[in-house]
Amino acid sequence: MKKPYVIVNCASSIDGKIALVGKKPLKISDEEDMARVHKLRNECDGILVGIETILADDPKLTVKEKYVGKAKQPVRIVLDSKFRTPENAEVMKPNAKTIIVTTCKEFKKEHVEVIKCGDAKVDLIKLMEILYDRGIRKLLVEGGSTVIWEFLKNKLVDEMFVFFAPIIIGGDAPNIAGGEGAKKEEEIIKFEIKSIERIGYGYLVNFIPQYEQ
Ligand SMILES: NC(=O)c1ccc[n+]([C@@H]2O[C@H](COP(=O)([O-])OP(=O)(O)OC[C@H]3O[C@@H](n4cnc5c(N)ncnc54)[C@H](OP(=O)(O)O)[C@@H]3O)[C@@H](O)[C@H]2O)c1
Repeated sequence: MKKPYVIVNCASSIDGKIALVGKKPLKISDEEDMARVHKLRNECDGILVGIETILADDPKLTVKEKYVGKAKQPVRIVLDSKFRTPENAEVMKPNAKTIIVTTCKEFKKEHVEVIKCGDAKVDLIKLMEILYDRGIRKLLVEGGSTVIWEFLKNKLVDEMFVFFAPIIIGGDAPNIAGGEGAKKEEEIIKFEIKSIERIGYGYLVNFIPQYEQ
């Protein structure tokens, strides 16, 4: 199967939450971790998020030069079946190229391209092939919760970085991986820990998924 090398990166509380209750955004990474994230972004060809992250956080998904020197600005990719990305969203601005992946329409204008891929929701397997054919060899998946689960469930993730901040959020705030979750023990996703490192006020864990064949 043709697919980019997929890296998941997210910032979490120690109870595995990646935002506040009600999906309200929270800055979990500190300055030191932000520098790491921007360096990681700059090594990738694409940065992918789900539409709910666009609606909740309105991220720019660009590389800040202050962290990397020369920024190469990876392609921003949004999984957005029904094309709900607001016209004034940061990802629609021309700071970098953007691909919106829908199941309903297709068009191209200047820096924004809309690709149709899948029926009810975006077909991730097919998308991996499309992105690979467009030269995306290293893809950074930055969330949110539903997207991370779907990538893991489809065995598409090659490695995962989680920055854990020493905070607890509690309640029903979004977790590192949401979606349907595992209903049977056979469905849980297992990892090997490649490294654990102290970064800023938290710690960074590099996980390698151990998929059943
Ligand atoms: N701390 C961090 O590192 C971090 C990073 C990113 C986000 N977040 C947080 O994560 C939260 C958002 O997470 P979320 O789980 O609500 O949403 P999400 O994962 O950002 O987006 C999920 C949506 O993407 C669309 N989608 C289309 N095809 C898909 C596919 N094949 N697989 C999965 N999703 C697909 C679906 O909407 P349609 O059906 O409309 O297409 C789906 O509901 C926010 O609170 C945000 O702040 C935290």
